[in-house]
Amino acid sequence: MAKFNKVAQKSDIENGKMKEYKIDGKTLVIANVDGEYLAFDGICTHAYCALAGGFLDSYTLTCYCHGGQFDIKSGEVLSLPPPAPINVYPVKIEDDDILIKL
Ligand code: FES
Repeated sequence: MAKFNKVAQKSDIENGKMKEYKIDGKTLVIANVDGEYLAFDGICTHAYCALAGGFLDSYTLTCYCHGGQFDIKSGEVLSLPPPAPINVYPVKIEDDDILIKL
């Protein structure tokens, strides 16, 4: 059964920034949007570019490769070309720790 895993600390990720993590063979990104931490797949569904290298504007992430956009709260595609959404993951905060349920 999926459980929450400690992945990072809040102090690791500044407001408006994101970071990539490798967990259990998955590439994930954690983003900090005004103190809210969101976790999602780190690889674009279009041509597999690393989403941590993209641009974050509130909850909209733009992939640096071809400009595809995702809503990082829902994983939905906001702008093509990505053919499919990304997975998003539940986040729990315990003191300074960020835990992700995979
Ligand atoms: S790889 Fe992300 S939009 Fe093409």
